[in-house]
Amino acid sequence: MKVPFMDLRAMHAPIEDRVLELVRELAGTSAFIGGRHVAEFESAWAAYCGVEHAVGVANGTDAIVLTLRALGVGPGDEVLVPANTFIASAAAVSAAGATPVFVDVDPVHLQVTPDTLDAGRTERTKAVLLVHLYGHIVLPEPILAFANAHGLVVVEDAAQAHGATWEGRRAGSFGVAACFSFYPGKNLGAWGDGGAVVTDDPALAERIRTLANHGRAGGDHYRHAEIGINSRLDAMQAGILSLKLPLLDGWNAQKDDIVDLYRNKLGGMIVEPPDGVTSAWHLLVVRVADRDAVRAELDRKEIQTGVHYPIPCHQQPAYNVAAHAPVAESAARELLSLPLFPTMTEAQVEYVSAALTGALRG
Ligand SMILES: Cc1ncc(COP(=O)(O)O)c(C=O)c1O
Repeated sequence: MKVPFMDLRAMHAPIEDRVLELVRELAGTSAFIGGRHVAEFESAWAAYCGVEHAVGVANGTDAIVLTLRALGVGPGDEVLVPANTFIASAAAVSAAGATPVFVDVDPVHLQVTPDTLDAGRTERTKAVLLVHLYGHIVLPEPILAFANAHGLVVVEDAAQAHGATWEGRRAGSFGVAACFSFYPGKNLGAWGDGGAVVTDDPALAERIRTLANHGRAGGDHYRHAEIGINSRLDAMQAGILSLKLPLLDGWNAQKDDIVDLYRNKLGGMIVEPPDGVTSAWHLLVVRVADRDAVRAELDRKEIQTGVHYPIPCHQQPAYNVAAHAPVAESAARELLSLPLFPTMTEAQVEYVSAALTGALRG
């Protein structure tokens, strides 16, 4: 049996005809940038996340860069970033001109805590980039209390957490702003690149919109209030995201059920969210010793796996800076992401689980 890591084709089958209709519509109107599809998706996405405003941007990395710039976080400022995240979390901080300071995580959920954040805090710290890795929300209350106590802003990196909930609130509704990626493989993915920032703060939303659109403000096309960039969500991607959004909760619930099946077989190996969090299960990650040998064995059995992420950010050649992050470092040697997608069958879960337990027995 072949088991792919994910199956976008199957997820898109129910909307394929409507996407083709959308392409035909845009071929007719040539309204490729801005317009109704972008505005409609922005309001739907803000409402879904439970916040007032959403600003579509070109990708999740820009969402973070623009948010930090709009908040005035830049050169001379430090931002606390977990050592175990996708490099874009850190690179976005650098692109905003600020310095990422890499902090460790707890050994169970692999998430930052007030203590690990405090270990990285200096008088230059301005913000916490709170990454809901794998779709697991980081419990917001202790983090927000820590941030308030030290005058820091919390920006969520929710690129992996579309639709995850805690206490009935969705990822994206906890920080001063939250940044999403709609990269195709994300829980809500475009057919290309895309991203968004959501926030309750109208002034912040407006400033991000200005910065993302060549610094234009007030509807005047050739008057530029700020030095901006070009980072817009285009109409085609926005239209596709609007077609997919009604399916997101169903897909997340299907993945939750599949994780239950995995849990019966793999129990304690799975990196679980904290109690009270309903994960979006962007990734199903287990911890195994001798990960590379196990992965090779699964590969021989035609099971596609991933590693998220093999090198902690501070040890990446791009950074190569000192950080006290022993938990993130040892996790990076053991993490293995297993196939997980809404249309996955019980037989596939059993095949993967049996192959994994077999590989671990050696
Ligand atoms: C945690 C995290 N942050 C940021 C990003 C950046 O998003 P994008 O690839 O859309 O720039 C991603 C995904 O790629 C991500 O997984």
